[in-house]
Parts: sequence; structure tokens; C-alpha cells
Amino acid sequence: MEQIDWSNLTFGYLKTDFNIRCHYTNGAWGELEVSDSEHLTLHMAATCLHYGQEAFEGLKAFRGKDGVIRIFRIEANANRLQKSSEGLMMAELPTDLFTEAVLKAVKLNERFVPPYESGASLYIRPYLFGTSAQVGVKPAKDYMFVVFVTPVGPYFKGGFEATPYVIMREYDRAAPLGTGTIKAGGNYAASLVAGAKANEMGYSAVFYLDSKEKKYIDECGAANFFGIKNNTYVTPESTSILPSITNNSLMALAKEMGMKVEQRQVPVEELETFEEAGACGTAAVISPIQRIDDLQEDKSYVFSKDGNPGEICVKLYKKLQAIQYGDEPDNFGWVTILK
Ligand code: PLP
Ligand code: COI
Repeated sequence: MEQIDWSNLTFGYLKTDFNIRCHYTNGAWGELEVSDSEHLTLHMAATCLHYGQEAFEGLKAFRGKDGVIRIFRIEANANRLQKSSEGLMMAELPTDLFTEAVLKAVKLNERFVPPYESGASLYIRPYLFGTSAQVGVKPAKDYMFVVFVTPVGPYFKGGFEATPYVIMREYDRAAPLGTGTIKAGGNYAASLVAGAKANEMGYSAVFYLDSKEKKYIDECGAANFFGIKNNTYVTPESTSILPSITNNSLMALAKEMGMKVEQRQVPVEELETFEEAGACGTAAVISPIQRIDDLQEDKSYVFSKDGNPGEICVKLYKKLQAIQYGDEPDNFGWVTILK
């Protein structure tokens, strides 16, 4: 096998041995199939291609010090994919089938789960899309579910270093009552122009305000926002952000650590009051925020002068990773051990 430089992996695609596929036809899901091809054959009029009938998930597998492979929050990801299916009128995949497919994909690619010491992990990408032909704007009759895996390093260069974000009022990621709460592929296509502009200007990602009033914080690129002050973990409630499973886990851990947790509308001016701030998601885990520039208002909210993460961000990050790698007990039942 080719040598993989585990410690220097980026968040990119690396070919692995097998992927899992499952077809929905005549109103029922078929058997899981194992494939060693990286390609799919699709009908040219498949609804996923022209009407964006597609949603995905993202979760990770970690190899512990004990060599055991742990997969983080499979069920929560299965549930979110079901919500996405509902939102896009796609066939719903049962949790059991989702779980079986994920476990199978990891098992068959076990040699790609990075070693404990590398700090890398195996990213799991399940996705579901309409495959049958449709020219009128209608949902497909047939669907396909695929799971591939790929070993990954940190999402942002620099890993757990604080990085800058930018508020861009001239772009929206999702409409207030649109698809922001589900993981539709189209949401990401809609975010590419603003994201590329932010990157060109040297920022990690766009810091989105609510699309209607531009008054409240939505999310940070493809991650949720949290701010810390007075021993309180504050995170936005909104009808246009993705319910992050990482954020949900961090809220539980913050409570366990004796912090107060507030999930509510967060006015942009409140940024001034946070002692620490972070972006959270499966890919980034926690990516501490160095500063948020509001170019139109000629304002900058600074959280880290030296680029180092704040104390509570570090504590939450370590706790979450300790559960994921199996260094600390999984009191919440978040982890599935690969047999
Ligand atoms: N927000 C958006 C828009 C995302 O794409 C993601 C990534 O999945 C998140 C937040 C973080 O969600 P999770 O923690 O479930 O990965
Ligand atoms: C996340 O896992 O946090 C993500 O945002 C995934 C991203 C690559 C779409």
C-alpha cells in the first residue's frame, strides 16, 4: 500500500478501497452493495443533477490509543439525513440501514483510519439523491444512497489556531424559511462565491448574519457559532442555520462542566461582549475565532490577539476529542465501537 503521511493530511479527498451503495426503487430500499469504483452511472435527467435533489452528511471515525475504532454520533447524523429527505421530498433512509452502511464502509476501509498519534481521523460522507428522470419540477421516484470515506487532517490550515472571519452583508447563505436547516448540497453551491471572496481576502470563511434583517448571528461558513462569557456558552437560534451535531455535543459538555448554556437570537453587537468565540462542526471540531471584521461598519471584533485559542475553547475541544478518541468515558452514549 502507498505510504500515507498521516500527520500532514489536509481536509481533502484520498481514494480508499470500497464504498457502499443502496438503491430505492418501487417504493423500497434494496440491499447494501459494496463497490470498488469511484464512479457512479446516472441518468442524464436525474433530479439531483438539475433540480438539486441531494443531501449529505458528515461524521468521523477515530482510532483510539487502544487501537479501537470509534464512530461519533451515527444516529444523530441518520436523523438529520431523514430531516433533509423530508425537506427535499426524497425517500427517507431508515436509521438502521444508515448505521449498517456507515459501519460497513469503515470496516472495509479500516486500514485508512489514521493512527491515534497523528491526530487525524476518517471522514465519512453519506449522501442521498434523486436518480430517476424528471423534466417537470417534481421529486424523483428513485433514489440512491452512497457512503464513501476518506482520511482527513484539519479543516483549516493551522488546525486549532484562531483564524479570522468576515461579515459580508451582500450575500446570504440561506433564506429565513428556506433550506438552511437541512444539509442540502445546494446550500453549499449558494455559498461558494461569498466563500471564495472571503478566502481571497485572507479570511477563513464568511460570518453570516440572518438573511432578513442582518441583525442576528447565523453561522460561520459551514460551521455553527458559539461565544463564551461569564461562564456561559451562547449559541444562535435561527430558522436558517444547520443544527450542528458538534454544537449539540458541546452544549451538553458545557453544561456538564458547570457552565450555563443559552441558545437564542444573538444580536451582532453582542460580539463585543464575548471573552472567547469559536466555530464548531464535524470537520473543524472547534476552530477558535481570532477576530470578525465587519467591513461595511468598519468594525472589528477581536477575540484572540496572539492567535491562541481561549481557555474554555481549549477545555471543550480537549473534552470532546477525548470522548471521540476513547481517552475518556462516553457518558452520553455518542460513540459506536466498530467490531
Ligand atoms: N453548519 C453548516 C452549514 C455545516 O455544513 C455544518 C457541517 O456539517 C455544520 C454547521 C456543523 O455541523 P456538524 O457539527 O453536525 O458537523
Ligand atoms: C463540517 O463537517 O463541519 C462541515 O461543514 C462539512 C463541510 C466539509 C461541508
